[in-house]
Amino acid sequence: MNLLVASLLLVLVARAAYATPAVGASCTVSSYNDVAGAVSSCTSITLKGFTVPAGKALIMKLKSGTTVKVAGTIKFAVSEWKGPLVEISGSKITFSGAGGYFDGQGASYWDGQGDKGKTKPKFFRIKTTGGSHFNNIKLLNCPHQCVSINPASDTTLTDWTVDVSAGDSKGGKNTDGFDLSNSSGITIKHAVVKNQDDCVAVNQGSHYVFQNLTCSGGHGLSLSVGQSSQNGNPNTVKNVTFSDCTVTNSRNGIHVKTHNDAGTGAISDVTYKNIKLSGITNYGINIQEDYENGGSSGNPKANIPISKLNLQSVTGSMSGGSSSMPVYILCGSNGCNNWNWSGVSIGNGKKKNSCNYKPSGFSC
Ligand SMILES: *[C@@H]1O[C@H](CO)[C@@H](O)[C@H](O)[C@H]1NC(C)=O
Ligand SMILES: *[C@@H]1O[C@H](CO)[C@@H](O)[C@H](O)[C@H]1NC(C)=O
Ligand SMILES: *[C@@H]1O[C@H](CO)[C@@H](O)[C@H](O)[C@H]1NC(C)=O
Ligand SMILES: *[C@@H]1O[C@H](CO)[C@@H](O)[C@H](O)[C@H]1NC(C)=O
Repeated sequence: MNLLVASLLLVLVARAAYATPAVGASCTVSSYNDVAGAVSSCTSITLKGFTVPAGKALIMKLKSGTTVKVAGTIKFAVSEWKGPLVEISGSKITFSGAGGYFDGQGASYWDGQGDKGKTKPKFFRIKTTGGSHFNNIKLLNCPHQCVSINPASDTTLTDWTVDVSAGDSKGGKNTDGFDLSNSSGITIKHAVVKNQDDCVAVNQGSHYVFQNLTCSGGHGLSLSVGQSSQNGNPNTVKNVTFSDCTVTNSRNGIHVKTHNDAGTGAISDVTYKNIKLSGITNYGINIQEDYENGGSSGNPKANIPISKLNLQSVTGSMSGGSSSMPVYILCGSNGCNNWNWSGVSIGNGKKKNSCNYKPSGFSC
């Protein structure tokens, strides 16, 4: 057999193996058309660079224990739809960056209008369970909200980079970093988020840990509770910890808002610990029970009470601009209780603090 024939045969064998991979096999995916076959047969998948066709999503309902490596740039042809562009589910999944990243082509959607204007797809949805781990994932230029964790459980994200900084000058808006809802047991560690909305927005769920996040350009470390229908279920947020995070050049450092126009529920056992702020333009700490139709009504209600909101060492500085107020607390009647704050010290504000509820350990 000469070399040419031998290599031809090798290619044919490789192609045949590809078309019908053995269950549990390793697959390399270099085209969108090969995704479904790989997901149904393989437990070790390498994604090379390819483009997902317009209006389609990269949906991977993975077999338990599957390992996925992202080794190329995955792009998404532009289409005005709601997405999400990526949806990953399965149990015991290990999903890692290996030199590749996801490019949402945000600039083709941004129009300065976020939720309004052009319909923009959400980007990356996580629905994993059972000790799943997403490591070293990079998302570039989210058209709209970046990562939605909903519903998921027992899942850890480490070393993510979510970079929408190009949207700062090109009309990026509502590009939330991580949105969490209907989930439990989620940890996000060592992530960098550069965007134009909340770095993290906890909407609902329990047992969340956020550690060592570096946020810039956006709206801060947020709880935003009550705005979305939970199919009639209360909007409950319980046992959430943010620690060792920095927030720079953002509208807020910490933002807790309850929507008084919809929903029932409760927020409790939330801790912010060792949070460093700088260049915050509006509020260092902004806690408001008067969120309504996307704005502040000035009429706080206690439909979603906030208890045991504990702060420990929240330090740093405001931008010094004319709207900068270090601490703002607006609670409905009996809407806030048992808050314990220590080491809260934020300088360089222009406006005086305003609090209609006094946390223990903090004199407004
Ligand atoms: C709070 O959540 C963390 C992280 O999931 C967990 O380790 C801890 O046991 C939870 N605490 C309570 C009181 O449920
Ligand atoms: C939460 O997720 C579960 C699946 O984990 C689903 O069955 C349930 O309907 C979801 N609940 C809400 C309120 O969306
Ligand atoms: C986050 O982790 C990095 C690397 O481990 C460390 O250098 C940095 O100081 C940490 N940031 C915070 C705010 O703890
Ligand atoms: C408030 O928090 C501080 C610092 O974590 C702690 O020492 C103190 O015991 C707490 N007080 C209450 C009443 O929980």
